[in-house]
Amino acid sequence: MCGIVGYSGEKNASELLPSCLRKLDYRGYDSFGFAVQANPTIAVEKHAGRLDGFTSQLPESKLGIAHTRWATHGSVTEKNAHPHMSCDGSIAVVHNGIIENYSELREQLKQQGHKFVSETDSEVIPHLIEGLLAQGKSFEEAVRETCDSLQGTFALLILNKESNKLVAARKGSPLVIGVGKNENFVASDVTAFIEFTKDVIFLDDNELAIVDGNVEVQNFSTGKKLDKKVSKIEWDAEQAEKSGYKHFMLKEIFEQPEAAQKCLQGRIKDGKVVLPELEGRDEKLKEINRVIIVACGTSWHAGLVAEYIMEELVGLPVEVEYASEFRYRNPIVDDKCLVIVVSQSGETADTLAALREAKKKGALVISICNVMGSTIARESHSTIYNRAGPEIGVASTKAFTTQLIVLTLVSLYLADLIKSNPLEKQREILSALQEIPDKMQQTVDESNQVLAIAKKYWEKPNALYLGRGPNFPIALEGALKLKEISYLHAEGMSAAEMKHGPIALIDSDMPAIFVAVKDKTYNKILANIEEIKARGGTVIAVASPADKEMEGNVAEVMHIAKTIELLQPLLTVLPLQLLAYYIADIRECDIDKPRNLAKSVTVE
Ligand code: F6R
Repeated sequence: MCGIVGYSGEKNASELLPSCLRKLDYRGYDSFGFAVQANPTIAVEKHAGRLDGFTSQLPESKLGIAHTRWATHGSVTEKNAHPHMSCDGSIAVVHNGIIENYSELREQLKQQGHKFVSETDSEVIPHLIEGLLAQGKSFEEAVRETCDSLQGTFALLILNKESNKLVAARKGSPLVIGVGKNENFVASDVTAFIEFTKDVIFLDDNELAIVDGNVEVQNFSTGKKLDKKVSKIEWDAEQAEKSGYKHFMLKEIFEQPEAAQKCLQGRIKDGKVVLPELEGRDEKLKEINRVIIVACGTSWHAGLVAEYIMEELVGLPVEVEYASEFRYRNPIVDDKCLVIVVSQSGETADTLAALREAKKKGALVISICNVMGSTIARESHSTIYNRAGPEIGVASTKAFTTQLIVLTLVSLYLADLIKSNPLEKQREILSALQEIPDKMQQTVDESNQVLAIAKKYWEKPNALYLGRGPNFPIALEGALKLKEISYLHAEGMSAAEMKHGPIALIDSDMPAIFVAVKDKTYNKILANIEEIKARGGTVIAVASPADKEMEGNVAEVMHIAKTIELLQPLLTVLPLQLLAYYIADIRECDIDKPRNLAKSVTVE
């Protein structure tokens, strides 16, 4: 996730901005840059890599903007780093978000003679402003019109060499103004400036702020001036990094609605899935007769859920393999086989080795990664990014749900390509998928019900997680989350398998956590629940909204929001992530850095 900071005040922006930008380190980045007002020009400095040891070569200035980039469009290079400039160097822009209509805009601007130097979506912005200024518009008018012409999401900071103000604008990406004494800040979050001021104005969507000695906020579509409230931040600097959450994991759990939104952005148009990442692959994809998904850990669980979705929608056999096993077998793979490699980090050693094995055998390899430019992304034939933003907590949460969304999009793309499903069914799934960010929000909004359960059961040394169909892998994922962050013993399995052995474990110290939502196995699950209760076990259920029958049958219920059967795993996993988190927190575990675990497993 990119981070942006702007400054206007009495201090030297060239010295101050690098230290403010370092405070946004936790957001993750691969390159950075600055622009400062250096009358009569704008001075710019950009670098690929990290800020460690960086000292600015910029001239002294009272006004500047800065950016850390988490690459989404274009590789990690100095040219792609922000700020981006207009042709004449008079406008500098830093941007966080994704501009969906950038390719149309870029073509139009090129025809008007604008020259582009980067591969980014963001670079259209300074050129659009430059074009409008050339038509005689004022700086503010030019920014307003530009904002109105952009589709997608943005948080922008803009400098104009002719003006001693900076302009900020927001649609869909966060931006907050820090109101200080004789100085003002604008940043992606308060962490960047909290040591200087705790008085803030949160910008809302479609708002623009003109920042110099004063702050003026207006709606950029109507130009109407707005009377914004100044709020006081109560957090300290460390809490601010986590936006007030106690741990990154909790922040990332609650970020899932936003991550899902970003993951879907621009990928559904006119009732169809649009994946430019697969451009030129359609002929090959039409010939495939089998899909193999390879991954490790949580990413493997995403693959297991996708097996149900893909087989139902695409009608081709789907196998899901541990990358570590796939690479050491002699897997039957040929050029009619599509191999999908799933990896949050894009660096997992076993997954990378499996990818190389699949390529060697002639398969088309598509990867689903969260880290741009990672080795797996570079070595795959095509990569589709999750766009979840950096995941800092070691336990994967938002990467998992966005992997599932991408896998669902790929399933729908293939279904459309090989006409394996009626169009109406695809449309029904697509419209439900577009509602998922809201449904996720409704589900995490019920976190208190999960906290109450955690408070009751945190001392139990064991837990069994049970589910059926696409919720069987969610049971595995729920158990993994509890194990890795609370160090409690948990096992996940198909609820149907329980009677083949594990039921012997049931006693009052082994709560059984059922994913028991309304689907085609609902009645079978109810029968499994009775079997547990008959043996003195306690049942906690993840249930459909207002399922009174379930409420009457089990000790505890965690409700999810309503969605179609195929997409329920995107919601049922949320209370299980929260349950693991709250239990680990009560047990005072080191949640973001659990013992013995690493975020990226680059060894075999
Ligand atoms: C669990 C977790 C791990 C990873 C696994 C694969 O919360 O994060 O199980 O899913 O190590 O990592 P990636 O997806 O980076 O290949």
